[in-house]
Amino acid sequence: MRELTAENAELKRAIVAGDRAAVRRQRDLGKHLARERLAMLLDEDSFTELEIHRRHQSQGPKLDERRPFTDGVIIGSGTIEGRRVFVYAQDFTVFGGSLGAAHAAKIQKVLDLATKTGSPIIGLVDSGGARIQEGVQALDGYGGIFRRQVAASGMIPQISVVLGPSAGGAAYSPALADFTFMVRDTARLYLTGPDVVEAVSGERVSHEELGGATVHGERSGVATVVHADEGDCLADVRYLVSLLPSNNMEPAPVTAVRGASRDMRPRLAEIVPAEPNRPYDMKAVIGELVDDGEFFEVHEDWARNVVCALARVDGEVVGVVGNQPMVLAGVLDRRAAQKAARFVRFCDAFGIPLVTLVDVPGFLPGTEQEHEGVIRHGAQLLYAYCEATVPRIQVVLRKAYGGAYIVMDSRSVGSDLSLAWPTNQIAVMGAEAAVNVLYAKEKPAGDPDRARLLAEDYAERFLHSRYAAERGLVDDIIDPATTRASIARGLVMLRGKREPRPRRKHGNIPL
Ligand code: HXC
Repeated sequence: MRELTAENAELKRAIVAGDRAAVRRQRDLGKHLARERLAMLLDEDSFTELEIHRRHQSQGPKLDERRPFTDGVIIGSGTIEGRRVFVYAQDFTVFGGSLGAAHAAKIQKVLDLATKTGSPIIGLVDSGGARIQEGVQALDGYGGIFRRQVAASGMIPQISVVLGPSAGGAAYSPALADFTFMVRDTARLYLTGPDVVEAVSGERVSHEELGGATVHGERSGVATVVHADEGDCLADVRYLVSLLPSNNMEPAPVTAVRGASRDMRPRLAEIVPAEPNRPYDMKAVIGELVDDGEFFEVHEDWARNVVCALARVDGEVVGVVGNQPMVLAGVLDRRAAQKAARFVRFCDAFGIPLVTLVDVPGFLPGTEQEHEGVIRHGAQLLYAYCEATVPRIQVVLRKAYGGAYIVMDSRSVGSDLSLAWPTNQIAVMGAEAAVNVLYAKEKPAGDPDRARLLAEDYAERFLHSRYAAERGLVDDIIDPATTRASIARGLVMLRGKREPRPRRKHGNIPL
Protein backbone atom coordinates (compact mmCIF):
# COMPACT_ATOMS: atom_id res chain seq x y z
CA MET A 1 0.00 0.00 0.00
CA ARG A 2 2.77 2.40 1.00
CA GLU A 3 4.61 1.56 -2.23
CA LEU A 4 1.54 2.35 -4.25
CA THR A 5 1.14 5.68 -2.48
CA ALA A 6 4.77 6.58 -3.12
CA GLU A 7 4.40 5.60 -6.75
CA ASN A 8 1.28 7.70 -6.95
CA ALA A 9 3.03 10.77 -5.60
CA GLU A 10 5.88 10.27 -8.03
CA LEU A 11 3.42 9.87 -10.85
CA LYS A 12 1.70 13.12 -9.97
CA ARG A 13 5.02 14.94 -9.89
CA ALA A 14 6.04 13.42 -13.21
CA ILE A 15 2.85 14.22 -15.09
CA VAL A 16 3.35 17.79 -16.05
CA ALA A 17 2.45 17.54 -19.70
CA GLY A 18 3.42 15.88 -22.96
CA ASP A 19 6.88 15.73 -24.48
CA ARG A 20 9.31 18.62 -24.33
CA ALA A 21 8.87 19.71 -27.94
CA ALA A 22 5.10 19.88 -27.48
CA VAL A 23 5.50 21.90 -24.29
CA ARG A 24 7.90 24.29 -25.98
CA ARG A 25 5.48 24.74 -28.85
CA GLN A 26 2.64 25.52 -26.44
CA ARG A 27 4.80 28.14 -24.76
CA ASP A 28 5.94 29.63 -28.09
CA LEU A 29 2.30 30.19 -28.95
CA GLY A 30 1.88 32.14 -25.70
CA LYS A 31 -0.31 29.38 -24.25
CA HIS A 32 -0.15 28.01 -20.73
CA LEU A 33 -0.09 24.31 -19.90
CA ALA A 34 -3.31 22.69 -18.69
CA ARG A 35 -2.20 22.45 -15.05
CA GLU A 36 -1.01 26.05 -15.03
CA ARG A 37 -4.41 27.12 -16.29
CA LEU A 38 -6.16 25.21 -13.54
CA ALA A 39 -3.86 26.86 -11.00
CA MET A 40 -4.91 30.29 -12.33
CA LEU A 41 -8.59 29.37 -12.34
CA LEU A 42 -8.99 27.72 -8.96
CA ASP A 43 -8.35 28.79 -5.37
CA GLU A 44 -4.84 27.91 -4.25
CA ASP A 45 -4.37 24.25 -3.28
CA SER A 46 -8.03 23.49 -3.80
CA PHE A 47 -7.74 21.09 -6.74
CA THR A 48 -8.48 17.39 -6.30
CA GLU A 49 -7.59 15.44 -9.40
CA LEU A 50 -9.46 12.35 -10.54
CA GLU A 51 -8.43 9.50 -12.82
CA ILE A 52 -4.84 10.59 -13.27
CA HIS A 53 -3.94 6.97 -14.08
CA ARG A 54 -6.40 6.63 -16.90
CA ARG A 55 -4.87 6.00 -20.33
CA HIS A 56 -6.24 4.96 -23.70
CA GLN A 57 -6.76 1.29 -24.47
CA SER A 58 -6.77 1.72 -28.25
CA GLN A 59 -4.49 0.73 -31.07
CA GLY A 60 -3.32 2.67 -34.08
CA PRO A 61 -0.57 4.88 -35.43
CA LYS A 62 1.12 6.81 -32.58
CA LEU A 63 -1.21 5.15 -30.05
CA ASP A 64 0.65 1.81 -30.11
CA GLU A 65 3.88 3.39 -28.91
CA ARG A 66 2.40 5.97 -26.51
CA ARG A 67 -0.09 5.51 -23.69
CA PRO A 68 0.35 8.63 -21.56
CA PHE A 69 -1.38 8.93 -18.21
CA THR A 70 -4.32 11.41 -18.11
CA ASP A 71 -4.96 10.72 -21.82
CA GLY A 72 -4.70 14.43 -22.50
CA VAL A 73 -7.34 15.76 -20.16
CA ILE A 74 -7.07 16.70 -16.49
CA ILE A 75 -10.29 16.42 -14.52
CA GLY A 76 -11.36 17.04 -10.96
CA SER A 77 -12.89 19.46 -8.53
CA GLY A 78 -11.71 22.64 -6.85
CA THR A 79 -13.09 25.87 -5.46
CA ILE A 80 -13.54 29.43 -6.67
CA GLU A 81 -13.88 31.90 -3.81
CA GLY A 82 -14.51 28.88 -1.62
CA ARG A 83 -17.36 27.49 -3.74
CA ARG A 84 -17.07 24.07 -5.38
CA VAL A 85 -16.77 23.70 -9.13
CA PHE A 86 -15.91 20.77 -11.36
CA VAL A 87 -13.37 21.24 -14.12
CA TYR A 88 -11.71 19.62 -17.05
CA ALA A 89 -8.66 20.97 -18.84
CA GLN A 90 -7.60 19.54 -22.17
CA ASP A 91 -3.85 19.17 -22.62
CA PHE A 92 -2.81 20.01 -26.18
CA THR A 93 0.67 18.58 -25.55
CA VAL A 94 -0.81 15.06 -25.43
CA PHE A 95 -2.08 13.96 -28.85
CA GLY A 96 -3.11 17.56 -29.54
CA GLY A 97 -5.76 17.38 -26.81
CA SER A 98 -7.71 15.10 -29.14
CA LEU A 99 -10.65 13.21 -27.72
CA GLY A 100 -10.76 9.42 -27.66
CA ALA A 101 -12.79 7.02 -25.54
CA ALA A 102 -10.80 7.42 -22.29
CA HIS A 103 -10.55 11.21 -22.66
CA ALA A 104 -14.30 11.43 -23.28
CA ALA A 105 -15.14 9.16 -20.34
CA LYS A 106 -13.18 11.47 -18.04
CA ILE A 107 -15.07 14.58 -19.20
CA GLN A 108 -18.35 12.69 -18.85
CA LYS A 109 -17.34 11.75 -15.31
CA VAL A 110 -16.96 15.38 -14.17
CA LEU A 111 -20.14 16.38 -15.98
CA ASP A 112 -21.98 13.66 -14.04
CA LEU A 113 -20.42 14.67 -10.73
CA ALA A 114 -21.16 18.35 -11.31
CA THR A 115 -24.78 17.51 -12.10
CA LYS A 116 -25.23 15.17 -9.11
CA THR A 117 -23.64 17.62 -6.66
CA GLY A 118 -25.23 20.75 -8.15
CA SER A 119 -21.95 22.48 -9.02
CA PRO A 120 -20.86 24.60 -11.99
CA ILE A 121 -18.81 22.81 -14.64
CA ILE A 122 -15.96 24.64 -16.34
CA GLY A 123 -14.22 23.16 -19.38
CA LEU A 124 -10.85 24.51 -20.56
CA VAL A 125 -10.83 23.55 -24.23
CA ASP A 126 -7.66 23.09 -26.29
CA SER A 127 -8.24 20.23 -28.69
CA GLY A 128 -7.82 18.96 -32.22
CA GLY A 129 -11.27 17.35 -31.95
CA ALA A 130 -12.15 13.69 -32.35
CA ARG A 131 -9.00 11.50 -32.05
CA ILE A 132 -8.77 10.25 -35.58
CA GLN A 133 -7.31 6.83 -34.73
CA GLU A 134 -10.13 6.04 -32.29
CA GLY A 135 -12.78 6.40 -34.97
CA VAL A 136 -16.37 5.92 -33.93
CA GLN A 137 -15.37 5.57 -30.26
CA ALA A 138 -14.32 9.21 -30.35
CA LEU A 139 -17.60 10.26 -31.96
CA ASP A 140 -19.50 8.24 -29.39
CA GLY A 141 -17.52 10.03 -26.69
CA TYR A 142 -18.58 13.41 -28.00
CA GLY A 143 -22.21 12.33 -28.21
CA GLY A 144 -22.12 11.27 -24.55
CA ILE A 145 -20.71 14.67 -23.58
CA PHE A 146 -23.32 16.60 -25.55
CA ARG A 147 -26.16 14.50 -24.12
CA ARG A 148 -24.96 15.20 -20.58
CA GLN A 149 -24.55 18.92 -21.28
CA VAL A 150 -28.09 19.15 -22.57
CA ALA A 151 -29.46 17.11 -19.65
CA ALA A 152 -27.70 19.46 -17.22
CA SER A 153 -28.79 22.63 -19.05
CA GLY A 154 -30.69 24.95 -16.72
CA MET A 155 -29.60 22.87 -13.70
CA ILE A 156 -25.94 23.78 -13.32
CA PRO A 157 -24.07 26.69 -14.89
CA GLN A 158 -21.87 25.49 -17.76
CA ILE A 159 -18.83 27.51 -18.76
CA SER A 160 -16.57 26.75 -21.68
CA VAL A 161 -13.21 28.47 -22.04
CA VAL A 162 -11.63 28.07 -25.46
CA LEU A 163 -7.87 28.47 -25.15
CA GLY A 164 -6.66 26.83 -28.33
CA PRO A 165 -8.17 24.89 -31.21
CA SER A 166 -11.67 23.57 -30.75
CA ALA A 167 -12.21 21.87 -34.03
CA GLY A 168 -14.95 19.70 -35.48
CA GLY A 169 -17.24 18.11 -32.93
CA ALA A 170 -15.29 19.84 -30.15
CA ALA A 171 -16.96 23.09 -31.22
CA TYR A 172 -20.37 21.92 -30.00
CA SER A 173 -19.37 21.72 -26.38
CA PRO A 174 -18.65 25.47 -26.17
CA ALA A 175 -21.76 26.11 -28.26
CA LEU A 176 -23.93 24.24 -25.74
CA ALA A 177 -22.43 26.01 -22.72
CA ASP A 178 -24.16 28.93 -20.99
CA PHE A 179 -21.04 31.08 -21.31
CA THR A 180 -18.25 30.68 -23.86
CA PHE A 181 -14.97 32.51 -23.34
CA MET A 182 -12.34 32.85 -26.06
CA VAL A 183 -8.80 34.19 -26.10
CA ARG A 184 -7.63 36.30 -29.04
CA ASP A 185 -5.01 34.87 -31.44
CA THR A 186 -4.94 31.36 -29.92
CA ALA A 187 -8.58 30.22 -29.67
CA ARG A 188 -10.02 28.78 -32.89
CA LEU A 189 -13.50 27.45 -33.08
CA TYR A 190 -14.80 25.91 -36.28
CA LEU A 191 -16.51 22.82 -37.61
CA THR A 192 -14.10 22.47 -40.50
CA GLY A 193 -10.68 24.11 -40.64
CA PRO A 194 -9.19 26.25 -43.45
CA ASP A 195 -7.80 23.21 -45.33
CA VAL A 196 -11.20 21.60 -45.64
CA VAL A 197 -12.79 24.92 -46.55
CA GLU A 198 -10.27 25.37 -49.36
CA ALA A 199 -10.68 21.79 -50.58
CA VAL A 200 -14.46 22.09 -50.70
CA SER A 201 -14.99 25.63 -51.97
CA GLY A 202 -11.60 26.90 -53.09
CA GLU A 203 -11.89 29.72 -50.55
CA ARG A 204 -8.61 30.54 -48.80
CA VAL A 205 -9.04 31.76 -45.26
CA SER A 206 -6.79 31.89 -42.20
CA HIS A 207 -7.57 30.13 -38.90
CA GLU A 208 -8.13 33.50 -37.26
CA GLU A 209 -10.45 34.79 -40.00
CA LEU A 210 -12.42 31.57 -40.03
CA GLY A 211 -12.90 30.90 -36.34
CA GLY A 212 -10.90 33.33 -34.21
CA ALA A 213 -12.15 35.08 -31.10
CA THR A 214 -12.89 38.30 -32.95
CA VAL A 215 -15.09 36.54 -35.50
CA HIS A 216 -17.08 34.72 -32.82
CA GLY A 217 -17.18 37.72 -30.50
CA GLU A 218 -18.39 40.19 -33.12
CA ARG A 219 -20.06 38.29 -35.96
CA SER A 220 -21.35 34.82 -35.10
CA GLY A 221 -22.15 35.50 -31.43
CA VAL A 222 -20.76 32.08 -30.45
CA ALA A 223 -18.30 33.69 -28.01
CA THR A 224 -19.91 35.32 -24.99
CA VAL A 225 -16.72 36.96 -23.77
CA VAL A 226 -13.40 37.63 -25.51
CA HIS A 227 -10.08 38.36 -23.82
CA ALA A 228 -6.60 39.27 -25.01
CA ASP A 229 -4.79 36.80 -22.76
CA GLU A 230 -5.36 33.67 -20.71
CA GLY A 231 -4.68 35.29 -17.33
CA ASP A 232 -7.36 37.96 -17.79
CA CYS A 233 -9.72 35.39 -19.24
CA LEU A 234 -9.46 32.97 -16.31
CA ALA A 235 -9.71 35.84 -13.80
CA ASP A 236 -12.93 36.89 -15.53
CA VAL A 237 -14.29 33.32 -15.31
CA ARG A 238 -13.73 33.55 -11.54
CA TYR A 239 -15.66 36.83 -11.46
CA LEU A 240 -18.52 35.27 -13.42
CA VAL A 241 -18.68 32.27 -11.06
CA SER A 242 -18.89 34.67 -8.10
CA LEU A 243 -22.14 35.99 -9.60
CA LEU A 244 -23.76 32.64 -10.33
CA PRO A 245 -25.73 30.25 -8.19
CA SER A 246 -24.17 26.78 -7.96
CA ASN A 247 -27.34 25.27 -9.39
CA ASN A 248 -30.97 26.08 -10.18
CA MET A 249 -32.14 25.13 -6.67
CA GLU A 250 -29.88 27.57 -4.85
CA PRO A 251 -29.84 31.38 -4.87
CA ALA A 252 -26.92 33.32 -6.32
CA PRO A 253 -24.46 34.39 -3.61
CA VAL A 254 -25.58 37.60 -1.91
CA THR A 255 -22.95 40.07 -0.71
CA ALA A 256 -23.33 42.78 1.92
CA VAL A 257 -26.37 45.06 1.67
CA ARG A 258 -25.30 48.60 0.67
CA GLY A 259 -28.39 50.54 1.69
CA ALA A 260 -29.28 51.04 -1.97
CA SER A 261 -32.94 51.61 -1.14
CA ARG A 262 -32.00 55.17 -0.10
CA ASP A 263 -29.22 55.71 -2.63
CA MET A 264 -29.83 58.81 -4.80
CA ARG A 265 -28.16 58.95 -8.21
CA PRO A 266 -28.54 62.53 -9.57
CA ARG A 267 -26.01 61.82 -12.35
CA LEU A 268 -28.59 59.65 -14.12
CA ALA A 269 -30.54 62.71 -15.25
CA GLU A 270 -27.30 64.15 -16.69
CA ILE A 271 -26.37 60.95 -18.54
CA VAL A 272 -29.73 60.61 -20.28
CA PRO A 273 -30.73 63.61 -22.43
CA ALA A 274 -34.43 64.48 -22.20
CA GLU A 275 -34.81 64.67 -26.02
CA PRO A 276 -36.00 61.20 -27.06
CA ASN A 277 -33.60 60.81 -30.00
CA ARG A 278 -30.32 62.03 -28.52
CA PRO A 279 -27.91 59.15 -27.93
CA TYR A 280 -26.21 58.25 -24.64
CA ASP A 281 -24.40 55.24 -23.28
CA MET A 282 -26.74 52.78 -21.54
CA LYS A 283 -23.68 51.22 -19.89
CA ALA A 284 -23.15 54.50 -18.02
CA VAL A 285 -26.73 54.18 -16.75
CA ILE A 286 -26.14 50.58 -15.66
CA GLY A 287 -22.95 51.70 -13.92
CA GLU A 288 -25.00 54.13 -11.80
CA LEU A 289 -27.61 51.54 -10.90
CA VAL A 290 -25.49 48.60 -9.77
CA ASP A 291 -23.19 48.07 -6.79
CA ASP A 292 -19.71 49.58 -7.24
CA GLY A 293 -20.59 50.36 -10.86
CA GLU A 294 -19.42 46.82 -11.70
CA PHE A 295 -21.08 44.45 -14.11
CA PHE A 296 -20.28 41.35 -16.14
CA GLU A 297 -21.32 42.02 -19.71
CA VAL A 298 -22.11 39.21 -22.14
CA HIS A 299 -21.66 39.54 -25.90
CA GLU A 300 -20.09 42.98 -25.51
CA ASP A 301 -19.15 43.20 -29.19
CA TRP A 302 -22.08 41.34 -30.74
CA ALA A 303 -25.49 42.96 -31.24
CA ARG A 304 -24.22 46.03 -29.40
CA ASN A 305 -27.63 47.74 -29.72
CA VAL A 306 -28.72 45.81 -26.65
CA VAL A 307 -26.70 45.44 -23.46
CA CYS A 308 -26.99 42.30 -21.29
CA ALA A 309 -25.11 42.09 -18.02
CA LEU A 310 -25.03 40.39 -14.65
CA ALA A 311 -24.50 42.69 -11.69
CA ARG A 312 -25.54 43.25 -8.08
CA VAL A 313 -28.06 45.66 -6.64
CA ASP A 314 -27.79 45.91 -2.87
CA GLY A 315 -25.81 42.67 -2.86
CA GLU A 316 -28.40 40.71 -4.86
CA VAL A 317 -27.47 39.40 -8.32
CA VAL A 318 -29.67 40.66 -11.17
CA GLY A 319 -29.67 40.28 -14.93
CA VAL A 320 -29.85 43.65 -16.67
CA VAL A 321 -31.15 44.03 -20.22
CA GLY A 322 -30.98 47.53 -21.70
CA ASN A 323 -31.43 49.06 -25.13
CA GLN A 324 -28.27 50.89 -26.22
CA PRO A 325 -29.15 54.26 -27.83
CA MET A 326 -25.50 54.70 -28.88
CA VAL A 327 -25.73 51.86 -31.42
CA LEU A 328 -28.33 51.92 -34.21
CA ALA A 329 -30.29 54.33 -32.00
CA GLY A 330 -31.06 51.36 -29.74
CA VAL A 331 -33.42 49.60 -32.16
CA LEU A 332 -34.04 45.92 -31.72
CA ASP A 333 -32.93 43.79 -34.63
CA ARG A 334 -32.75 40.04 -35.09
CA ARG A 335 -29.35 39.67 -33.43
CA ALA A 336 -30.23 41.87 -30.47
CA ALA A 337 -33.45 39.91 -29.95
CA GLN A 338 -31.57 36.61 -30.00
CA LYS A 339 -28.88 37.86 -27.67
CA ALA A 340 -31.35 39.19 -25.12
CA ALA A 341 -33.57 36.09 -25.40
CA ARG A 342 -30.74 33.75 -24.51
CA PHE A 343 -29.73 35.94 -21.60
CA VAL A 344 -33.27 36.22 -20.26
CA ARG A 345 -33.65 32.43 -20.42
CA PHE A 346 -30.38 31.90 -18.56
CA CYS A 347 -31.44 34.29 -15.78
CA ASP A 348 -34.86 32.68 -15.57
CA ALA A 349 -33.45 29.14 -15.40
CA PHE A 350 -31.16 30.12 -12.50
CA GLY A 351 -33.58 32.28 -10.52
CA ILE A 352 -31.83 35.58 -11.25
CA PRO A 353 -34.24 38.58 -11.20
CA LEU A 354 -34.45 40.65 -14.38
CA VAL A 355 -34.14 44.42 -14.63
CA THR A 356 -35.08 45.72 -18.08
CA LEU A 357 -34.08 49.27 -19.03
CA VAL A 358 -36.17 50.44 -21.95
CA ASP A 359 -35.34 53.15 -24.46
CA VAL A 360 -36.30 51.73 -27.81
CA PRO A 361 -37.61 53.28 -31.03
CA GLY A 362 -38.90 49.93 -32.36
CA PHE A 363 -37.70 47.01 -34.44
CA LEU A 364 -35.30 47.71 -37.32
CA PRO A 365 -37.25 47.84 -40.60
CA GLY A 366 -35.84 46.46 -43.86
CA THR A 367 -35.69 43.53 -46.23
CA GLU A 368 -32.48 42.12 -44.76
CA GLN A 369 -34.11 41.93 -41.32
CA GLU A 370 -37.40 40.52 -42.59
CA HIS A 371 -35.77 37.98 -44.89
CA GLU A 372 -33.30 36.82 -42.25
CA GLY A 373 -36.06 36.20 -39.76
CA VAL A 374 -36.48 39.23 -37.50
CA ILE A 375 -40.00 37.97 -36.78
CA ARG A 376 -38.70 34.59 -35.62
CA HIS A 377 -35.93 36.12 -33.53
CA GLY A 378 -38.19 38.80 -32.09
CA ALA A 379 -40.58 36.01 -31.15
CA GLN A 380 -37.75 34.29 -29.29
CA LEU A 381 -37.31 37.33 -27.07
CA LEU A 382 -41.04 37.62 -26.60
CA TYR A 383 -41.22 33.95 -25.68
CA ALA A 384 -38.30 34.23 -23.27
CA TYR A 385 -39.91 37.09 -21.34
CA CYS A 386 -43.39 35.53 -21.42
CA GLU A 387 -42.17 32.32 -19.81
CA ALA A 388 -39.82 33.93 -17.26
CA THR A 389 -41.04 33.45 -13.70
CA VAL A 390 -38.25 35.29 -11.86
CA PRO A 391 -38.94 38.75 -10.36
CA ARG A 392 -39.13 41.19 -13.26
CA ILE A 393 -38.70 44.95 -13.06
CA GLN A 394 -39.11 47.19 -16.10
CA VAL A 395 -37.90 50.79 -16.18
CA VAL A 396 -38.88 52.95 -19.17
CA LEU A 397 -36.37 55.77 -19.42
CA ARG A 398 -37.58 57.54 -22.52
CA LYS A 399 -39.33 56.06 -25.52
CA ALA A 400 -40.89 52.63 -25.84
CA TYR A 401 -42.71 52.22 -29.13
CA GLY A 402 -44.77 49.48 -30.70
CA GLY A 403 -43.81 45.81 -30.62
CA ALA A 404 -40.48 46.68 -29.08
CA TYR A 405 -42.32 48.11 -26.05
CA ILE A 406 -44.30 44.90 -25.65
CA VAL A 407 -41.23 42.70 -26.00
CA MET A 408 -39.06 44.64 -23.55
CA ASP A 409 -40.81 43.21 -20.48
CA SER A 410 -44.00 45.24 -20.64
CA ARG A 411 -46.77 44.68 -18.11
CA SER A 412 -48.65 42.69 -20.77
CA VAL A 413 -45.96 40.01 -21.04
CA GLY A 414 -45.60 39.66 -17.29
CA SER A 415 -43.44 42.38 -15.77
CA ASP A 416 -44.11 42.49 -12.00
CA LEU A 417 -43.10 46.09 -11.45
CA SER A 418 -43.14 48.68 -14.19
CA LEU A 419 -41.54 52.05 -13.52
CA ALA A 420 -41.11 55.02 -15.85
CA TRP A 421 -39.15 58.25 -15.84
CA PRO A 422 -40.99 61.54 -16.44
CA THR A 423 -39.39 61.52 -19.92
CA ASN A 424 -41.25 58.34 -20.88
CA GLN A 425 -43.20 58.12 -24.12
CA ILE A 426 -45.00 54.81 -24.49
CA ALA A 427 -47.05 54.51 -27.66
CA VAL A 428 -47.61 52.63 -30.88
CA MET A 429 -45.17 55.00 -32.59
CA GLY A 430 -43.55 58.44 -32.34
CA ALA A 431 -45.47 61.63 -33.19
CA GLU A 432 -44.05 62.26 -36.66
CA ALA A 433 -44.54 58.68 -37.81
CA ALA A 434 -48.07 58.66 -36.39
CA VAL A 435 -49.03 61.84 -38.25
CA ASN A 436 -47.66 60.44 -41.50
CA VAL A 437 -49.90 57.39 -41.17
CA LEU A 438 -53.03 58.99 -39.72
CA TYR A 439 -53.07 61.93 -42.15
CA ALA A 440 -51.44 60.21 -45.13
CA LYS A 441 -54.12 61.40 -47.55
CA GLU A 442 -53.50 65.02 -46.54
CA LYS A 443 -49.77 64.64 -47.34
CA PRO A 444 -48.61 66.40 -44.16
CA ALA A 445 -44.98 66.42 -45.33
CA GLY A 446 -45.96 69.03 -47.94
CA ASP A 447 -47.13 71.42 -45.23
CA PRO A 448 -44.51 71.41 -42.47
CA ASP A 449 -46.40 73.86 -40.21
CA ARG A 450 -49.56 71.79 -40.23
CA ALA A 451 -47.52 68.59 -39.76
CA ARG A 452 -45.88 70.14 -36.70
CA LEU A 453 -49.22 71.15 -35.22
CA LEU A 454 -50.65 67.69 -35.77
CA ALA A 455 -47.56 66.10 -34.21
CA GLU A 456 -47.81 68.39 -31.18
CA ASP A 457 -51.46 67.51 -30.75
CA TYR A 458 -50.67 63.78 -30.98
CA ALA A 459 -47.80 64.12 -28.50
CA GLU A 460 -49.97 66.01 -26.03
CA ARG A 461 -52.75 63.47 -26.20
CA PHE A 462 -50.88 60.17 -26.51
CA LEU A 463 -47.23 60.66 -25.61
CA HIS A 464 -47.50 62.40 -22.27
CA SER A 465 -45.67 60.83 -19.37
CA ARG A 466 -48.77 59.71 -17.42
CA TYR A 467 -50.57 58.08 -20.36
CA ALA A 468 -49.53 54.50 -19.47
CA ALA A 469 -49.61 55.07 -15.70
CA GLU A 470 -53.21 56.37 -15.85
CA ARG A 471 -54.15 53.10 -17.50
CA GLY A 472 -52.38 50.94 -14.91
CA LEU A 473 -49.63 49.84 -17.30
CA VAL A 474 -46.93 51.63 -15.32
CA ASP A 475 -46.84 51.33 -11.52
CA ASP A 476 -45.10 54.61 -10.84
CA ILE A 477 -43.42 57.56 -12.48
CA ILE A 478 -40.16 58.04 -10.64
CA ASP A 479 -37.52 60.72 -10.32
CA PRO A 480 -34.56 59.33 -12.32
CA ALA A 481 -32.27 59.92 -9.33
CA THR A 482 -34.29 57.38 -7.35
CA THR A 483 -33.98 54.59 -9.95
CA ARG A 484 -31.37 52.56 -8.06
CA ALA A 485 -33.33 52.91 -4.85
CA SER A 486 -36.59 51.96 -6.59
CA ILE A 487 -35.04 48.83 -8.12
CA ALA A 488 -33.57 47.82 -4.75
CA ARG A 489 -36.98 48.22 -3.08
CA GLY A 490 -38.64 46.37 -5.94
CA LEU A 491 -36.27 43.43 -5.50
CA VAL A 492 -37.14 43.24 -1.82
CA MET A 493 -40.85 43.48 -2.62
CA LEU A 494 -40.63 40.64 -5.14
CA ARG A 495 -38.31 38.33 -3.19
CA GLY A 496 -39.64 34.79 -2.99
CA LYS A 497 -41.96 35.26 -5.99
CA ARG A 498 -43.50 31.96 -7.13
CA GLU A 499 -45.33 31.47 -10.38
CA PRO A 500 -46.20 27.82 -11.06
CA ARG A 501 -46.50 26.78 -14.66
CA PRO A 502 -48.76 24.05 -16.06
CA ARG A 503 -47.18 20.62 -16.47
CA ARG A 504 -45.95 19.92 -19.96
CA LYS A 505 -42.94 18.30 -21.49
CA HIS A 506 -41.56 21.62 -22.73
CA GLY A 507 -42.73 24.58 -24.74
CA ASN A 508 -41.79 25.09 -28.35
CA ILE A 509 -39.74 28.29 -28.50
CA PRO A 510 -39.52 29.44 -32.14
CA LEU A 511 -35.83 28.63 -32.63
C1 HXC B 1 -5.31 12.70 -33.42
C2 HXC B 1 -4.34 14.77 -33.44
C3 HXC B 1 -5.57 15.36 -33.77
C4 HXC B 1 -6.70 14.52 -33.92
C5 HXC B 1 -4.11 16.90 -33.63
N1 HXC B 1 -3.47 15.76 -33.38
N2 HXC B 1 -5.39 16.69 -33.89
N3 HXC B 1 -4.22 13.45 -33.27
N4 HXC B 1 -6.52 13.19 -33.72
N5 HXC B 1 -7.90 15.02 -34.20
C6 HXC B 1 -2.06 15.57 -33.06
C7 HXC B 1 -1.17 15.85 -34.25
O1 HXC B 1 -1.02 14.70 -35.04
C8 HXC B 1 0.13 16.23 -33.58
O2 HXC B 1 0.77 15.05 -33.16
C9 HXC B 1 -0.33 16.96 -32.34
O3 HXC B 1 -1.68 16.54 -32.11
C10 HXC B 1 -0.31 18.46 -32.48
O4 HXC B 1 -1.03 18.80 -33.66
P1 HXC B 1 -0.43 19.79 -34.77
O5 HXC B 1 -1.19 19.56 -35.99
O6 HXC B 1 1.06 19.65 -34.83
O7 HXC B 1 -0.77 21.19 -34.12
P2 HXC B 1 -1.15 22.54 -34.86
O8 HXC B 1 -0.24 22.78 -36.03
O9 HXC B 1 -1.19 23.57 -33.80
O10 HXC B 1 -2.59 22.34 -35.45
C11 HXC B 1 -3.70 22.10 -34.59
C12 HXC B 1 -4.93 21.67 -35.41
C13 HXC B 1 -4.52 20.45 -36.28
C14 HXC B 1 -5.40 22.82 -36.27
C15 HXC B 1 -6.02 21.33 -34.42
O11 HXC B 1 -3.86 19.51 -35.46
C16 HXC B 1 -5.69 19.80 -36.91
O12 HXC B 1 -6.19 20.31 -37.92
N6 HXC B 1 -6.10 18.68 -36.35
C17 HXC B 1 -7.20 17.91 -36.88
C18 HXC B 1 -8.51 18.65 -36.67
C19 HXC B 1 -9.66 17.78 -37.06
O13 HXC B 1 -9.95 17.66 -38.27
N7 HXC B 1 -10.20 17.07 -36.07
C20 HXC B 1 -11.23 16.08 -36.28
C21 HXC B 1 -12.50 16.86 -36.48
S1 HXC B 1 -13.82 15.83 -36.77
P3 HXC B 1 2.35 14.89 -33.15
O14 HXC B 1 2.57 13.49 -32.72
O15 HXC B 1 2.82 15.19 -34.54
O16 HXC B 1 2.84 15.91 -32.15
C22 HXC B 1 -14.59 15.76 -35.31
C23 HXC B 1 -15.83 15.00 -35.40
C24 HXC B 1 -16.54 14.98 -34.09
O17 HXC B 1 -14.17 16.27 -34.35
C25 HXC B 1 -18.00 15.04 -34.35
C26 HXC B 1 -18.77 14.97 -33.08
C27 HXC B 1 -20.20 15.40 -33.29
